[in-house]
Amino acid sequence: MVKINPVTICVVTLLGCYSVLADNPCLKGPPVPKNAAECCVTPFLVEPSAFMACHSKWIGQTKRQMAIEGIPRGCCVAECVMNSTKLYSDGKIDRDALTKLYLGSTKTMAPEWKQITLDAIDGCFKMADSIKAEIDAGALLTPAFDGEQICHPISGTILACMGMTLFAECPAKLFTVNEDCNKLKSYHSKCPFL
Ligand SMILES: *[C@@H]1O[C@H](CO)[C@@H](O)[C@H](O)[C@H]1NC(C)=O
Repeated sequence: MVKINPVTICVVTLLGCYSVLADNPCLKGPPVPKNAAECCVTPFLVEPSAFMACHSKWIGQTKRQMAIEGIPRGCCVAECVMNSTKLYSDGKIDRDALTKLYLGSTKTMAPEWKQITLDAIDGCFKMADSIKAEIDAGALLTPAFDGEQICHPISGTILACMGMTLFAECPAKLFTVNEDCNKLKSYHSKCPFL
């Protein structure tokens, strides 16, 4: 399992959301201009177009929030994605429905992804449970700047964890080995997909 620094933020399947320390190496973004999907195609929750719609709408606010210290703020890119699938409501993610969507995306993929995905879901929900107090506190924050929308941290926590875990667990035979991909693998072992 990928361990996620609880002070972080934004990534969903291919991008969750996670919050970030001021001197966080993740703030700079990936070290190479390469799409992770060129290294390993991982199971996903929503189609790239649905993700991009949420990304364009919220990434500006999310980047601004990443510079704020203190209790990690929820990621609205991730909450928007969860909302688009009706998985989120009242601070809770429908785990069964999320499992169905991820497994649905593995149907045309290599068979080993099924168990890897189930294990990732299990690990990510356990991790979120272990930092529940902080997640709940993040949901109660008040706007730090004019117009800031507060999103519940649960969506970003789960999506960041899923994106990072699935990429980290990519079976060797499905991972493209080259210098850029190896660098990306090392970067995403600590940093979420934004
Ligand atoms: C997600 O849906 C909830 C209502 O269930 C809403 O309060 C919240 O603002 C939505 N979040 C985003 C980012 O659109």
